[in-house]
Amino acid sequence: MQLRAQNINFKYRSDRYILKDIDFSIESGEIVGLVAPSGFGKTTLAKILAGYEKPESGSVEIEGLTKSKNRYSPIQLIFQHPEKSVNPKWKMSKILNEAFEPSKELLDDMGIKDEWLNRWPSELSGGELQRFCVLRALSSETKFLIADEMTTMLDAITQAQIWGVVLEHVKKHNIGLIVISHEKALVDRICHRIVDLSEFEELKQDIV
Ligand SMILES: Nc1ncnc2c1ncn2[C@@H]1O[C@H](COP(=O)(O)OP(=O)(O)O)[C@@H](O)[C@H]1O
Ligand SMILES: [Mg+2]
Repeated sequence: MQLRAQNINFKYRSDRYILKDIDFSIESGEIVGLVAPSGFGKTTLAKILAGYEKPESGSVEIEGLTKSKNRYSPIQLIFQHPEKSVNPKWKMSKILNEAFEPSKELLDDMGIKDEWLNRWPSELSGGELQRFCVLRALSSETKFLIADEMTTMLDAITQAQIWGVVLEHVKKHNIGLIVISHEKALVDRICHRIVDLSEFEELKQDIV
């Protein structure tokens, strides 16, 4: 299976393109780093791949996947700020089970305590909340996962635990993983290949 974006053009405002003629692809089981300085459109591209934003032109498709009517998207995006990606009026058990019912094993691996399930999002720390956001992206229907600065806000121990679970999960289920991170050491260590969005910019200038 391959997730493929071709000739992506995108702008928020009429006067400036954020993404111009961007091609990007990833195979099942591959781990690809997406890097570039801040403001180069990494998060925007992630949103386009996951279907949160529509490009002005260009296409995003998964080759080899039969479309299902299920609401759960096969491309899951995890953001940097978990508090912005959950409904503050829902308890954690509802937030989690809206997506799917994870196994006890996965809950344990992610370090989620039973007592947290009965709390509101505001009653959890950022690290505790992010464990939920990561876990709910790991349904059996997930084919591609995008981690956009997934652990940037977290302490080293929580970072290591979350990455441990995610890397084991994607390997076991042959999921394609896109890693957006400023941490070069992390990207170099876990990625099979790295795409630098700022190089598209240079390419453009070369052509001109
Ligand atoms: N909702 C938005 N409306 C207008 N401009 C935006 C919006 N989101 C991001 N931008 C702008 O688009 C550019 C790319 O942003 P982003 O995709 O978040 O980059 P990155 O993730 O690489 O830091 C930035 O200049 C940013 O200010
Ligand atoms: Mg970003």
